Amino acid sequence: MTSDGEKAASAESATVETVAEALQRATVELKQRGTTRSARLDAEVLLAHSAQWSRTQLHCRIMDPLSESVKVRFWKLCGERAKGVPIAYLLGWKEFYSRRFAVSAGVLVPRPETELLVERSLQILQRSPGATNILDLCCGSGCIAITLALETLSKRIVAADLSDDALRVCKANIDHFGVGEVVEVVKSDLFSELPKEAFDLIVSNPPYVGTDFGPEADPDVMAHEPGMALFSGRHGTDHLESIVERAPAHLIEGGSLILECASFQAEKIEAWMAERGFSQTCLWHDLSGLPRGVSGRWEG
Ligand SMILES: C[S@@+](CC[C@H](N)C(=O)[O-])C[C@H]1O[C@@H](n2cnc3c(N)ncnc32)[C@H](O)[C@@H]1O
Repeated sequence: MTSDGEKAASAESATVETVAEALQRATVELKQRGTTRSARLDAEVLLAHSAQWSRTQLHCRIMDPLSESVKVRFWKLCGERAKGVPIAYLLGWKEFYSRRFAVSAGVLVPRPETELLVERSLQILQRSPGATNILDLCCGSGCIAITLALETLSKRIVAADLSDDALRVCKANIDHFGVGEVVEVVKSDLFSELPKEAFDLIVSNPPYVGTDFGPEADPDVMAHEPGMALFSGRHGTDHLESIVERAPAHLIEGGSLILECASFQAEKIEAWMAERGFSQTCLWHDLSGLPRGVSGRWEG
């Protein structure tokens, strides 16, 4: 296994190796390192990426020898994967709502549960067709804002984040998907730098890992994804609490707030929203029935 960089990678590439042999060896070695539970799949994805083939092409060429340049790329990526670097950072993209979003170290890799946040937002927007102004607070790669722009057409969306790295990736995704006329990017510490306007919908997937829970969380996530995207005070609720408190000043009468959170936080967040004066508060759940977020309506 390539442990460190190109030198080791080129040493690995000195022998002739077929697709099948490379996959077999990488799978065994990734399993031994224990940093992934999907060693064979990871090996296939990384080899397909290195050769610029689809996985189907990979299977059709299973007995082909690998070129030197593909081998160098592949074993270098395997070395990174063995250290726990997320696949999405190695590929440079992550699929979200059936689209490929660019990601890089410095921005959170979009999670499948956040697709549920998008679903919930779309349901609310369907019920209020006049809604035109949306805020995606803590936008990261822009996966929520851009997906809403593409799924709803003709909405105005502000995507805000405090991280320069995140905003750079978000802008690249906005350009890639051609939604620059709909999605405006703002650098802001939560609401502090936002335009003085009221939104119809505020959606947010803020950091919600507690520093108290950090050690229990996935060590690879902690080691490779930005702490600013993960942590929010001891209990993980500092951002959520602040958003619930401050959102009403940025919502129209009848506007909605939708938040993603950890399942064990959801009831507490719902109670805060009700106390703050939101009506129709409800939890939304993932496919295993766990609450993953809260929504509510601001009556003004
Ligand atoms: C959990 S990530 C979510 C990213 C993206 N919305 C997604 O779902 O993949 C949280 C994001 O909040 C941003 N963030 C952290 N603190 C912030 C603050 N005070 N104001 C604005 N954004 C902040 C981080 O930079 C990060 O991009």
